[in-house]
Amino acid sequence: MKIITLDGPAGAGKSSTAKALARELGWYHMDTGAMYRSVALAALEQNISLENEKDLAELAASLDIQSAYGDVFLNGRNITAEIRIDRVTTATRFVADAPSVREEMKKMQRSLSEEFNLVTEGRDQGTVVFPDAELKIYLDASPATRAARRYRERVDIGDQSRTMDEILHSQLQRDQGDRNRPVGAMAAALDAIIIKTDELSLENVVKQVLELACDRGLISD
Ligand code: DC
Repeated sequence: MKIITLDGPAGAGKSSTAKALARELGWYHMDTGAMYRSVALAALEQNISLENEKDLAELAASLDIQSAYGDVFLNGRNITAEIRIDRVTTATRFVADAPSVREEMKKMQRSLSEEFNLVTEGRDQGTVVFPDAELKIYLDASPATRAARRYRERVDIGDQSRTMDEILHSQLQRDQGDRNRPVGAMAAALDAIIIKTDELSLENVVKQVLELACDRGLISD
């Protein structure tokens, strides 16, 4: 099946872009960050130690995780909001750092690509999981822009528990962890197209990606 990968740091615009693209194309939107978050939520709920890689990998292999244009389901239960809470975000790092969990996630992600055309977003989609994808995009933006976007999203849902500076600080920490993990580190594939989104609207980014998809013969105009 056909695959468009969108990698890059938090707040670069991956989720909004992936969702809009998948809707426009009628393709499956695979949010791999949400998949790692779902494993972290399940580990917290089942009291599985975040230090126990073997148990985490077994847990990951046992879960049914589905995403649909932004909504995420764990064994049929809608967990869209729960996986965004700070406690789950913190736990996700342990899950994403574990190579054998990543191996399970790679299997799950590749098996979805056998069934559906995919717009997939994450950190390692163009590098590790789908190195042969027809179109690879790396979305980026400055740390200040990314923090401001996250801050605004939180304020919009009535959450003012953290200042913009606090968000910036934790984002920089997370970026560092994401860039430096030994397996599945966040990186642009050598053949990825890098789009800096600081000055671009969502519509503009989506338009650029659709044009690229057209040029590559993935879709017709
Ligand atoms: O995109 P996100 O913030 O929901 O991702 C949650 C965490 O999962 C983030 O710290 C990076 C990690 N992640 C990963 O390691 N590999 C992916 N393909 C997607 C996310």
